[in-house]
Parts: sequence; structure tokens; C-alpha cells
Amino acid sequence: MSEASARAHPNIALAKYWGKRSSSLNLPAVGSLSLTLAGMETRTSVAFRDDLDADRIELDGAPASEAIRRRISAFLDLIRQEGGTQRRALVRSSNDFPTGAGLASSASGFAALALSAATAAGLELSPNRLSELARRGSGSAPRSLYGGWVRMHRGDQESGADAIATPLHPESHWDLSMLIAITTEHSKSQGSTDGMNLTRDTSPFYDAWIDQSEPLLAAMTSAIASRDLAAVGALMEASCLRMHAVMLSADPGIIYWNPATVAAIERVRELRSSGLACYFTIDAGPQVKVLCEAANAPAISTALADAPGVLRIITTQPGPGAELINE
Ligand code: PMV
Repeated sequence: MSEASARAHPNIALAKYWGKRSSSLNLPAVGSLSLTLAGMETRTSVAFRDDLDADRIELDGAPASEAIRRRISAFLDLIRQEGGTQRRALVRSSNDFPTGAGLASSASGFAALALSAATAAGLELSPNRLSELARRGSGSAPRSLYGGWVRMHRGDQESGADAIATPLHPESHWDLSMLIAITTEHSKSQGSTDGMNLTRDTSPFYDAWIDQSEPLLAAMTSAIASRDLAAVGALMEASCLRMHAVMLSADPGIIYWNPATVAAIERVRELRSSGLACYFTIDAGPQVKVLCEAANAPAISTALADAPGVLRIITTQPGPGAELINE
């Protein structure tokens, strides 16, 4: 087969990844733990063709920017190398949610691309090998290969063979919702790779960030296993705020938040003190993601939508892993 299509869903890290132990192989400096989300998706089709002299990349129906084209071509080179082909590809990808605004579009994007490109190239890869490949595209992409609750391992090997994702629990494990408060529709100003390198090179708090990650991951893993929302929520907020603290302490400081981000955090705290259990997390962008019991999602969504500057709410649930589709 020289053509294949796949779909993948974004994932949101409850225990965050920020920092690389190797840039060339895109190896994470810390492990992470995420939830894959139904309710938003990326669909990607890849066709390797003899009649192209360069890769052609279309995102949401328009030619990709030069920077994105280069990033995707570099990824396709890995696939070509593994599959022993020189053929260029036509890649068409679309998201049904804002791209590049801290909504993990690179995770679902590279998970869908890794699966469709590897299949189109005729590669028969083990799940771990696919994880390794997806990681070369984006550090959080291996997590989107699996549904539900997923652990991404930091790994120790220089080759990166153990820096892979493994599934912890399927999406049916726990009936939660993740509400996403959109505070801007614009793309983020600083990409995560540049931000991570700057943080590693300049933050006086970087070592402390690395040191806290494994204990937090261990506590998060058992809180998820026992479906303890208060414990998961407290750890999730701690991981998020520590990650943003280390970003803020880079030189120059990296600030992904806007006033509506802070307003949404305040709203979550108010809701919690009024007795509605909900907890926030924020990635490399200004959107605020709120975890709660599915039954409480409508009331929390209404209150969150009313926070100053919040534009709209996307409601998501635990979702499935990446899969091949017929396009
Ligand atoms: O996948 P990347 O390289 O864009 O990294 C994303 C990192 C965060 O979203 C900020 C945190 C995480 O673990 O997803």
C-alpha cells in the first residue's frame, strides 16, 4: 500500500513534560502522564507518489507554511529511511479544533501522521517502534497513539528505545470530562521546542523541576488507579503550576497566559470552594483545561463560559487511541 489515512485525538498531560534530555532524538527530560480526549480530532492521509519531486503538505485545506513543511518533511525522511524509499508524499491533514494554540495539535497531528505514513510506506512496526517514531515528530505524540490514560516514559537509553508511551487504563476506566476554555483562537507565540531549550539553558529552577517529576508521576499513577479525583486534581494543578513556574523563570521569561487564563483559574477555584470538584491544567498556550466528573460538566461549563475573556468551551471525554481509517 502506498496510501493510508489515520485519525488521532489530542491528549492533555495531567503530569507535564517540559524539557529534553536530547534534542536530536527528541528525548524527554521527564516522564509524563496524559489523558487522550474524544471530542477533538486530527485526520491525516499520506500518499507516497512517484510523480512528486517534493513533499506536498496541506493543512486544513491550505498549503502548510514553510516551517511546518520542513518539520513534516524531516519526519517523512525518517519513514523513508526506515522503508527504503525515496518517494515524496502528498500529506493532507485537518483538525476540527484550533491549531498551535496549546491544544496539543502537535500530539494528535504527529500520532496520525506516524500511523498513516508508516502504513503508507508498508512498514510493519511494533507499537513501541511506532511510539519512538511519533516521538521524533513531537514529544507528546506517542501518548496520542493510545486511548485513555497513558504514561510516557523518560527512558534511560541513549538510543531512545525506552522513551516510549505505554497505556495505563482504557478510556472506560473513569467517567470524567475535560472542559477546554478557549481564551484566544490565535496560534501561540513561542513553540514548545524553543521554549524547552531556553528553559533548560537559562532557568535557575530547572533541576528542581526535573527532580520533582518522578515522585509526582508515582503519586499521580496511584491516584488515577484508585479514581481519587481530589488527589489527581491536586497533583495535576501542582504539575501545571510548577511547569509554568520553570517557564516563567527562564531568561527571558516565557509567559503563555493571558488575562482570561487567570480569570478561568480563579473561576475553577471559586467553583471548588462552592463544592463543585474541578481542577485546571494549562499547556504551552493560554487555554485552560478543567477536569471534573462527567455528571458535573454541564454546570461547570456554564460557570467557566461566564469567566471574563473566555470565548467558548469545548467539552471532551476520555477518548480512543490513533487508528487507521478509510478516506
Ligand atoms: O509535544 P510538545 O513537544 O509540543 O510538548 C508539549 C509539552 C506540554 O504540552 C506543555 C506538556 C505536555 O506534557 O503535554
